Amino acid sequence: MKRIIFFTIFLLSACGHDKEYIPVKKITIGFSQCTMVDKWREIMVMEMKRELSFYNNYNIDFIVKDAGDDNNKQIEDINDLVSRHIDILIVSANEAKQLTPTVEEVFNKGIPVILIDRKINSPSYTAFVGADNLGIGREAGYFAIELLKGKGKILEITGLTGSTPAIERSSGFKEIIKNYPAISIEKSIEGRWLEDRTLKITDSLFYTFNDFDLVFAHNDFMARAAAYSSRKHKLKPYIIGIDGLNTEDGGVSMVLNGTIDGTILYPSGGDKAIQLAMEILTGKPYETTINLNTFRIDNTNARTIWLQGAEIGSQQGKIDKLNYKINNMSSILKKRDTLLFLTTSVIILLFFVVGTIYFLFRQKNRLSKALTLKNKMINQQYKIISSQRDDSINLLMLAEEAKENKLRLFTDISHEFRTAVTLIMTPLDDLIKSTENSGLKNKLEIIRKNAGRLNKLSDSILRFRNIDENKYKPVFNGANFIGFLNEIVEIYREKANGKKITVMTDLPPYLYVDFDAAMMEKILCNLLSNAIKYTKPEGKVTVAVKNENAKILISIEDNGIGIPSKDIPYIFNRFYKAENSKMSNESEGVGVGLAITKELVQLHGGIINVTSFEGSGSVFTLTIPQFNKNTTEDPEDISIKYPSTLRQEILPEKDKVILVVEDNPDLLKLISGQLEYYYSVITASNGLEGLEITRKKIPSLIVSDIMMPVMDGLQMCRQIKNDSSTCHIPVILLTALDSQDFTIKGFEIGADAYLTKPYNENLLLTHIRNLLLSRKKIIDSYCPSSFFQDIFKTRETSDQDFIKKCLDVIYDNAESEDFGLDNLADKMTMSRSSLYRKIRIACNIRPVDFIKKARLNYSAKLLMSKNLHINEIAWRSGFSDPKYFSKCFYQEFGCYPKKYAQEFKSTSNQIAEN
Ligand code: FRU
Repeated sequence: MKRIIFFTIFLLSACGHDKEYIPVKKITIGFSQCTMVDKWREIMVMEMKRELSFYNNYNIDFIVKDAGDDNNKQIEDINDLVSRHIDILIVSANEAKQLTPTVEEVFNKGIPVILIDRKINSPSYTAFVGADNLGIGREAGYFAIELLKGKGKILEITGLTGSTPAIERSSGFKEIIKNYPAISIEKSIEGRWLEDRTLKITDSLFYTFNDFDLVFAHNDFMARAAAYSSRKHKLKPYIIGIDGLNTEDGGVSMVLNGTIDGTILYPSGGDKAIQLAMEILTGKPYETTINLNTFRIDNTNARTIWLQGAEIGSQQGKIDKLNYKINNMSSILKKRDTLLFLTTSVIILLFFVVGTIYFLFRQKNRLSKALTLKNKMINQQYKIISSQRDDSINLLMLAEEAKENKLRLFTDISHEFRTAVTLIMTPLDDLIKSTENSGLKNKLEIIRKNAGRLNKLSDSILRFRNIDENKYKPVFNGANFIGFLNEIVEIYREKANGKKITVMTDLPPYLYVDFDAAMMEKILCNLLSNAIKYTKPEGKVTVAVKNENAKILISIEDNGIGIPSKDIPYIFNRFYKAENSKMSNESEGVGVGLAITKELVQLHGGIINVTSFEGSGSVFTLTIPQFNKNTTEDPEDISIKYPSTLRQEILPEKDKVILVVEDNPDLLKLISGQLEYYYSVITASNGLEGLEITRKKIPSLIVSDIMMPVMDGLQMCRQIKNDSSTCHIPVILLTALDSQDFTIKGFEIGADAYLTKPYNENLLLTHIRNLLLSRKKIIDSYCPSSFFQDIFKTRETSDQDFIKKCLDVIYDNAESEDFGLDNLADKMTMSRSSLYRKIRIACNIRPVDFIKKARLNYSAKLLMSKNLHINEIAWRSGFSDPKYFSKCFYQEFGCYPKKYAQEFKSTSNQIAEN
């Protein structure tokens, strides 16, 4: 990967390189011109620009400033150039003295300075380009001597006297002239390099001063002015100038046309200045003084020079054209270079991307190979683990099956016990009630007690199963625990007395506790019976209760045989029996008592402990919370409910038909016998038979066992409740299976009540009576409509309450046709959306349909209860159009309102006849 990146960078950088070095940094050349008023200076700038065009590989910025013959302006120009960060300054100083400090300052800042044509009075500059003005002055001197042939008067017209060319030219000229005593410089005037200014001076001067033979002007412009003035004043002096520009009206042309007699070539040197600047800036060797060639131009060479100039001019034009083309080409090339660079970059990037993809692809392949390997290994391990897990599951299943078989055996036996005990206890109760013989009564009571004990033993096994399956949930009621405990102690005191064991109590007079009475009864009975069981005659059992920090401590202490210390850790284990308890005469039971007790205590939120010493007795201590947040009842109203308290006076209702379904013929006879006095009884010996009879006879209520051959009671109940013609019949399930699981199952499939054997006759009768009554009430108040019947049958009580409330509100407002969801929400003090949601969830229909069904239900109720005209029923139910009402009614009940009323009445009569 690194190699690819390196290669890419290398290629990109190689692609960016040109054959020549292109400085990244921009070069700024500043040129301060003293003036741009004349052609000579124009040509100087033109030469500079032309020269710069040869450096098109460089990024050069060329700034030219024109001082307009003004020193102060030139100082400003130079400072401005410096502020623009020039890399080099080329300057042609207007006047040496005034410009020297500024130029020095620039030089001292480290900016290279090239002086061109005009100098400063300081060596603080980098290089000089220009012709030798002193030499030019001398050459002019020699030329004048030749023209004057050793004798004559001269008028000198100088340039700006503060500028170095004027100073040098003048002194060179004078240096030669002074050697010829017959030649004198009669007058010297300052033309300041300017033609106009000179013209003005000479024009007026020549009126008074006209005795001169030769005019030496420091440049050709001033020479031309002198020539014009001389002609004007009819004077014919020789005229010498300087510059020798080979242009249309330049010095060469002036010599050719006789305006002046001669001129000295003074090249501008613009090209040389640029060359020098580039040498300095690019670090190349350079010369600090570049002397430009100069020579005399007169009528002997002017033509040749003119012609050469023309040739040079045409060549120069060609060069310019070529240069222009080259510049064009190079800008095209630059563009191409950029394009090439971009294209190459894209290609390289593509190459890079492809390389990366290839690299990643290889990586992926390598990884997927490794993954495949790992997967294989995992699969193998998974297979091993799976087979181990299957083995474990099989073992678990076997264990579970064995446990289940064992429990089922216990359950079945218990069921049989309960049925048998019921058959013993119920006639026994009758016998005890009917006999006057106290001896026999006592014996019967003993039988009754033992039957009860047998019942409790089987009950223990059933409870054990329930606890085991986490299905047993305590129901807390608040009550005086001491009263409850005393009742139980009294029962056992009798038993203890039989063994000459004293039962003592140490209890507070009253103690409020939230507790599950049934559960606590089992716990206390187990502990008390154990205490009595393992205590020798003349022994003592003490029951004490303390209340500490919202906890109840119940201790049951005996001075019996005690528990060996090695057994203590295991006594709460199921089916564990201490060694010495096996020896005991009283060693009955299967060893589940303490295990159940512990689990019941835990379910009750408490703990149980034991301290025991073999041979001296045991203390079992129970600690339970005094209060439980799940307690529902008001303590003042509480009383522990026993079936005997429910005894009611029940009036016979022979018009009601009760179907009893029971496989045990004795029990069937017993139940039928108990019900026959009050109701018409029909019987069936299993679920299937029960179902068939139900369909045929439509009984008012069904009492059925659960565990039966052919079809069990639950199945039968489900089918009855699923059939619309029988679903309204209340079903009471009567069975030995005291299990919340079965109870829940029974209720889930629609059973209306659930009673365990041995059942209490009065309780059964009360249930029957209440169910018949409530059924009637429900039908009367809410449910002519099968839709609502279903709802009430299948929904939870909270939903039923909600729907009842809704129906009540709708019934109260049924007359108002406009009463809708918003009004209902208002009356129910609910938001529209939550009412909407709740109705949808509870009834699975749209609220608008719910209201319509409620109105129709109300109308059906009116039809059943009131003798009203259909039209009146319609408007009372909120239907303004009776035809529409009839149509809707038909859709809901399957018949028109009139027919419905008729059928109801005939059915009511039939029921009454039954
Ligand atoms: C142009 C010029 C030339 C002369 C030079 C001296 O402005 O006057 O004619 O030779 O300057 O600096």
